[in-house]
Amino acid sequence: MKFIVLTLFKEMFDAFVSTSIIKRAIDKNIASIEVIDIRDFTKDKHNRVDFPPYGGGSGMIISAQPLSAAIDYSIEKLSSENKKIEIIYMSPRGKVLNYNISKELSSSNSNYIVICGHYEGIDERIIEEYNVKEISIGDYVLTGGELACQVLMDSIIRLLPGVINEDSLMEESHTDNLLEYPQYTKPYDFRGRKVPDILISGHHKNIAEYRKKESIRITKKFRPDLIDKYNEEKNKSKKEGN
Ligand code: ADE
Repeated sequence: MKFIVLTLFKEMFDAFVSTSIIKRAIDKNIASIEVIDIRDFTKDKHNRVDFPPYGGGSGMIISAQPLSAAIDYSIEKLSSENKKIEIIYMSPRGKVLNYNISKELSSSNSNYIVICGHYEGIDERIIEEYNVKEISIGDYVLTGGELACQVLMDSIIRLLPGVINEDSLMEESHTDNLLEYPQYTKPYDFRGRKVPDILISGHHKNIAEYRKKESIRITKKFRPDLIDKYNEEKNKSKKEGN
């Protein structure tokens, strides 16, 4: 899966592409991330990429000229691949990212161009012209789309086959609308707090039941909204006889 990121702050991606699981996914050719500077495409004689908004108001808007040139260049680069190209704009007004969206994007066999805005955003005509999908990472406003873009790519790449052990993906939070159960490792006794006995019993069936109960308890505590979805799905699969 290929990502081309369009940004004015390329350096923000340096650590992301060269660290830990994302680096490994890139080294194994499962994903690639190319980061492109929108400023390289400006035709403005002072190298500007952003201008004040028509109609007045604060902040600056990234102009359609350099951005469209950067998008066209990226589309051209990806066009030999014979895969669907999706263009995403990281924006606080977009659809809020969740596990299901990441899973869909991860399994869609597409390549992605991700636009990171800064300042007050980008010219609206880019969104219309290129049928851009807008994604937010939550109901708050960041100074730019770069961190949001990294969150999006991380959540997609870790779900690609071969990046993370399948078993860990099966058991993690949000897979079945439940949050993950509490985890423990050495030492057995930490300041008098001992690991629950059942986890050292070696009885796999009891451990699985205990963990499921704990997942339900934790989800009720932190995300009561998810419990309804969990019950709905459970009833649905019961009806379908799974
Ligand atoms: N850019 C600024 N705020 C954002 C958010 N919450 N999600 C995605 N992109 C953003």
